[in-house]
Amino acid sequence: MKIGVLISGRGSNLQSLIDAQTNGLLGAEIGIVISNVPEVQGLDRAAAAGIPTTVINHKDFDGREPFEDALDEELVSYGIELVCLAGFMRLLTGGFVNRWTDRLINIHPSLLPSFKGLHTHERALEAGVRFGGCTVHFVRAEMDAGPIIVQAAVPILSDDTPDTLADRVLSEEHKIYPLAVKMIAEGRVEVVDNTVKIKDAGIPGASLINPSA
Ligand code: GRF
Repeated sequence: MKIGVLISGRGSNLQSLIDAQTNGLLGAEIGIVISNVPEVQGLDRAAAAGIPTTVINHKDFDGREPFEDALDEELVSYGIELVCLAGFMRLLTGGFVNRWTDRLINIHPSLLPSFKGLHTHERALEAGVRFGGCTVHFVRAEMDAGPIIVQAAVPILSDDTPDTLADRVLSEEHKIYPLAVKMIAEGRVEVVDNTVKIKDAGIPGASLINPSA
């Protein structure tokens, strides 16, 4: 399966996909990396791995639709079958999202449906929840919504800051994004009534209780 990765910046999740591909653990090939921002670190990561890159700068377009048409054209020209948003900081319209229904996924740094949007770690700390986490989900036109594929939960510690929590969550992001792509590539992920069913899903060994005593 050929995947396209859309980025806007650092590209650490992109790197986790590249590493999984290198280690034969992705079950898919990254065909193109597209950034809407020029000269970001993620573009260097892709180039270092020999993956084609394109910059499609939203500022060069008169509105969202022509920008998204350009994205779509580029993805189709590379034969892309699954699009992975990885820190892509533009909202996509229903037009684009519907063209890629169930072939467009995103990673978000919270346990959705809690904490959609930005500043998820600050908000989780303010709310006093005991777990943070991250979610890979199929994209729908509504922001940070759509059938959930994989989640990872991490305990929130009493001395956490948004940065320490973000680091702990990011390590999990780097595990679950390649996992989600692999399960999709293996044909094990099906959307039924707007939720995801996974064939032969592994069952984690233990519950998490925080604090433990
Ligand atoms: C990640 O936290 C991801 O969950 C969010 O944006 C951030 C991107 O980081 N959507 P990176 O560019 O992959 O390092």
